Amino acid sequence: MNPINSDVRDRLTETSQTHLLRFLSELSTSEQESLLHQIGKTDLRLLRQIWKASTNDGSPIDAAARITAARSPGKVVRQPVSAADSERWKQATQVGENELREGRVAVITVAGGQGSRLGFDHPKGMFPIGPKTDRTLFQIFAEQILARRQRYHTAIPWLIMTSDATHAETHTFLEEHNYFNLGQDSVYLFQQGSLPALDAASGRILMSSRSELALSPDGHGGLVAALASAGLLNLLSQHNIRHLFYHQIDNPTVILCDPALLGFHAQQRSQLTTNVVRKESPAERMGVLVDINGRTEIVEYSELTPEQAACCDENGEWIFWAGNTAIHIFDREFLEQLAADESQLPLHVARKNVGFMDDRGEIVRPDDPANPNAIKLEKFIFDALPIAERTLIVEGNRSREFNPVKNRSGADSPDTSRAALSRIGREWLAAAGYEVPADQPVEISPLQALDAEELTARLKSGAVRLADL
Ligand code: UTP
Repeated sequence: MNPINSDVRDRLTETSQTHLLRFLSELSTSEQESLLHQIGKTDLRLLRQIWKASTNDGSPIDAAARITAARSPGKVVRQPVSAADSERWKQATQVGENELREGRVAVITVAGGQGSRLGFDHPKGMFPIGPKTDRTLFQIFAEQILARRQRYHTAIPWLIMTSDATHAETHTFLEEHNYFNLGQDSVYLFQQGSLPALDAASGRILMSSRSELALSPDGHGGLVAALASAGLLNLLSQHNIRHLFYHQIDNPTVILCDPALLGFHAQQRSQLTTNVVRKESPAERMGVLVDINGRTEIVEYSELTPEQAACCDENGEWIFWAGNTAIHIFDREFLEQLAADESQLPLHVARKNVGFMDDRGEIVRPDDPANPNAIKLEKFIFDALPIAERTLIVEGNRSREFNPVKNRSGADSPDTSRAALSRIGREWLAAAGYEVPADQPVEISPLQALDAEELTARLKSGAVRLADL
């Protein structure tokens, strides 16, 4: 036994994980090295603690106190209603446009998820979502960034977080499409970390083969550590980037680098700004932003009883109205502060079915939804909210900005998202004076127009032809 092994063996014994070495003697040297490397990177004690905590039912008193203390979020910029509101939004837009012109904005797309609900066999960004063409999610975002760059004569770096599950294919896809003409040197792919799944009953780390732990991406909260370890926080600082526009891979109608959102964020010197939309019903399965003891936090829909979800404040408005669209703007220095102590973002436990190799070396694929065999661990980026000293919430226009692709069918599916893209296109065309029947699909590339005003102007000048849409 070499000294590395004896050290590893001690740690494994102490944390009841010796089964990881069960097949060590049967492995090739490189497999042995790889297994020891995976074990070396794993915080065995922390995993043990988390598993132990997961076997208690948590602290229902703390959870109940959190919900009782929750108030409607305080600092919210609402959608404009009055002329004064419109003036405020106009001013914020001008401030945001200036930040863009000055080159202070970068986009971060988190694209490391496994997209299991959609059931698409490739990274979700490669999903064809165009109502008339096979335009993918990646292409829509790339074209939005290119169009913003052209409009403001500026550089907007694009940072894409991938994972073991999505990296190689994403890289090949972007190469094959020549980075959609953004220039390879301004698109940064970086990989998030991964964490092993644990057997829910025993806390033992699951293995996917004789030499591999059953790993999965460490959640969108893995962004903070991943940015830092890829050296990107330094790079952003060198490029004088101040604002990181964060969004998820699944919403093709997000307004990337939305000048109004950027403007409010910059005006208020917010460290973390979040776009929210009004929930359609209290029962809607959406996390909501609230104020808890003076801090902004997210309450997950699963934390609320139906009665709590429908609770109203003194103005008769739902307390839990402000649905999280996962569109955020981070102040770069705030991200640096988070990265300096990454343990500030807690690990969350989710019970899921995870395939694994049993003690005889055979693969088992549990599939009982009522009794998941494993716990998976993830960090959530929105846990940064209560850490921030200065947060801001801006209400977005739901039908325009939030039409995600989550499920294979039904709500939040390719059908609803494609229909939204067509509807938005029809609205822009109507504003330009062209009526299109409701059942006719419309697809407007961000390179043709980023909004209704631009489309009107370009149709008038002939730069865009009706026949092309
Ligand atoms: P979701 O919570 O929708 O998860 O991710 P998912 O993995 O994409 O899909 P399901 O739940 O398996 O169906 C929201 C966003 O966070 C990213 C996803 O790529 C998506 O943009 N994400 C999620 C990561 O980048 N890494 C992760 O580890 C998890």
